[in-house]
Formats: sequence, structure tokens, C-alpha cells
Amino acid sequence: MGFTMARILVTGGAGFIGSNFVYHLLREEPDASVVVLDKLTYAGNLENLQPLRDDPRLQFVRGDIADPDTVRDVIRGCDIVYNFAAESHVDRSIQDAHDVVWTNVRGTQVLLDAVRELAIPRYVQVSTDEVYGSRASGAFTESDALQPSNPYSACKAAGDLLVLAYVRTWKLPALVTRSSNNYGPYQHPEKLIPLHITNAMETKPLPIYGDGSNVRDWLHVEDNCRAIHLVGRQGVEGEIYNIAGHSERSNLWIVERIVELTRCDPRLKRFVQDRPGHDFRYAILDEKVRALGYQPRWSLEEGLKQTVSWYRAHEGWWQRIKGGEFADYYRGQYEGRDAEHSEPGGTE
Ligand code: NAD
Ligand code: DAU
Repeated sequence: MGFTMARILVTGGAGFIGSNFVYHLLREEPDASVVVLDKLTYAGNLENLQPLRDDPRLQFVRGDIADPDTVRDVIRGCDIVYNFAAESHVDRSIQDAHDVVWTNVRGTQVLLDAVRELAIPRYVQVSTDEVYGSRASGAFTESDALQPSNPYSACKAAGDLLVLAYVRTWKLPALVTRSSNNYGPYQHPEKLIPLHITNAMETKPLPIYGDGSNVRDWLHVEDNCRAIHLVGRQGVEGEIYNIAGHSERSNLWIVERIVELTRCDPRLKRFVQDRPGHDFRYAILDEKVRALGYQPRWSLEEGLKQTVSWYRAHEGWWQRIKGGEFADYYRGQYEGRDAEHSEPGGTE
């Protein structure tokens, strides 16, 4: 039912959510062909798609979404574009905002222009709950104002606003999804959950920003992929769809659960200097996507167990990442980052 998808472009399909989405699509749309356009930045990894290398339905193109010629070439003839490509890490965007502006803003504009020029029937912008900013209680709906706090979320917000401006100006057939924090297989070990699982497995310190009381709403990546697919198939053009995890936890809770699941020494926990501008809590309501028929399948408890098992079974995958460019990043980000707090009570 819903929108026809014979040829699907997935940008950022060699990253965490994008690669999970490619697996999802090839299962759920067996007659479709999928083109992945990915620049293979530090976060892109062809190993994520390795099990699909002999699948004739999948084509991989290495290229930049901010390059108009490349984009025009790959987008031609597609029924739908799902834009996952982004610089996705808040800490890196704080270190240097150049790449988030390039990809999350300029890249989005180039894609939108190509969709318009070549009359592509449908475009889905994959965005984030971070664009709403932080709130101490309650939850944001899709019509709430945007108040991003860091360069990453500011550039995601700019991308969303460009999409909505093209809808308004050109009647571009575009939709936006905004999900909460994802976790699951293939997530780069720079992010909280995989960093802590893999550090625990290596008996390395578990860095907790501030006092660990910041709250995130955790969504299993497979649930997010099902919801994003559904929005592409059945969502209303010009609309925004929040996708919540319904699993709010403090960072300290998450770290302590990882300590239990990996059976590492709890003394590995380290409170370190907080992230500048650290949003205290994200929370969204997702009635609109539920009205399309979406229901999450993963509980946080089962999802965390599955994720720990996945990282246990894929040690080569994350060891190769941690041994490369990441080692320098990690030293720069964490070395000499002394503790600021030791008890709950972060800032909004
Ligand atoms: P990721 O960093 O794991 O993957 C990003 C992918 O995009 C990589 O494969 C990278 O090589 C590619 N890429 C980067 N710049 C590119 C460019 N200029 N051209 C082509 N490809 C490029 O990110 P992720 O966590 O999988 O996030 C995917 C999308 O979902 C992003 O748009 C992000 O903002 C959004 N999102 C992520 C989360 C989360 O918790 N991870 C939550 C909500 C929304
Ligand atoms: O909310 C959706 C967003 O979630 C996505 O849009 C982003 O792409 C994604 O990276 C994620 O952003 P966060 O900043 O919330 O994710 P991160 O994994 O970096 O951090 C999660 C929380 O854990 C956050 O409060 C900071 C904290 N943290 C993170 C790291 C890496 C730590 O305490 N220690 C750490 O070492």
C-alpha cells in the first residue's frame, strides 16, 4: 500500500542508520533497486554493507551529496530519496563546524535542487529531535519552534527549514522525520552506547559527561528504520513526523546497565568535564507517525542486550574503527578531561 518505490536513493547508506535502512528496504521492498550515495567519511564504512555485496538490487556510488553533478547523475530515475547523509556527531561539530555546514546544509540544498530540477516524486529528510533543543519536562510536537544548541543540531535545523521552504515555494514533494537517539548494530563507537560497550570490553574508562544526569530517549535503530520507511510510503507531503523511543533514561542509568551487561568493573566509570552547551533532556511526542500505523517492536532492555551481543560478536568491526582515525580523535577529545561533577543536577 502507499507510494510506489521501484528505484530508491539512500544517501549516507554506509553509515549507522543508513546501512540498517538498506537491509530493511531490501527485505521489505523485494522488487526495488537501491542506490547508496555515500562519501565514505570517517563515519562511512563499506563493511556495514558487506553481506549485501552480491545482491544485484544494490548499487553503491561513492560521492558527496554537496556535489551537484554527482547528485544529478545518481538521482535521475529515482522514485524516492531518503537523505541520511550527515555529519552526525555533536562533539565533532563543536570541535569544528565546517563539515556540518557543508554536508547538513549545503548538501541538503543540492539534493533539494536536484529533486526539483529532475521532478523526483518524493524526498524524505531524515532529521533529529535535537532541532527542538532541550526541555526539563513535557515533550515537543512537530509544530513546536526550533531551538538548537550546538553546530550539529543548528545545521540539521537549517536543513529541515530548507526542506520546508522548498515545499512551500515549489510544492516540492518532501517530508521530514525527527527521531530520538538511536542505538543498535553498526553504530560508530564515537557515540555513547557503543563507546561504552566497547571500552568496557577493552577494560578502558567509561567517560560520563558532567554528572550523568542528562536524559536521552533511546530508540532501537530497526524501529526507526520501519518508521522512516512508513513515512516515505504513506506520509503526507510537507509534513513532519517525530519518532520517539519511549525509553527515557539518564546517561548514568545507561552506563550502569552497560556495566551490568558486559560484567565489567564498575570502577571504570569516570565523570569527565561536561560537553559545552550540553542539552539536558530531549523529549518528543509521536502521535502522527503512530496514526500511520507505526508501533515500536523493541524494548530498551531487549535492545541493549541485543546490542551488547552484536558488539561482542563483531569485535573485528569495531577494533578496526577504533584503531584508525578514531584513536587520534579519542585522545584529543578525552585525554586530560578531568572530572567537574560527582553528583546529579545538570543544567537545562
Ligand atoms: P553516521 O555518522 O553513522 O553516518 C553518516 C553517513 O553519511 C556516513 O556513511 C558518511 O560517510 C555519510 N556522509 C557524510 N557526509 C556525506 C556527504 N557530504 N555526502 C555523502 N555522504 C556523506 O550517522 P547516523 O547516526 O547513521 O545518522 C544518519 C542520519 O540520521 C543523520 O542525518 C542524522 O542527523 C540522523 N539522526 C541520527 C540519530 C542518531 O541517534 N544516530 C538520531 C536522529 C537522527
Ligand atoms: O537525539 C538525536 C541525536 O542523538 C542525533 O541527532 C545525533 O546524530 C546523535 O549523535 C545523538 O546525539 P547525542 O549528543 O545525544 O549522542 P551521543 O551518543 O554523543 O551522547 C549521548 C549522551 O551521552 C549525551 O548526553 C552526551 C553523553 N555522553 C556522550 C559520550 C560520547 C557521555 O556522557 N560520554 C561520552 O563519551
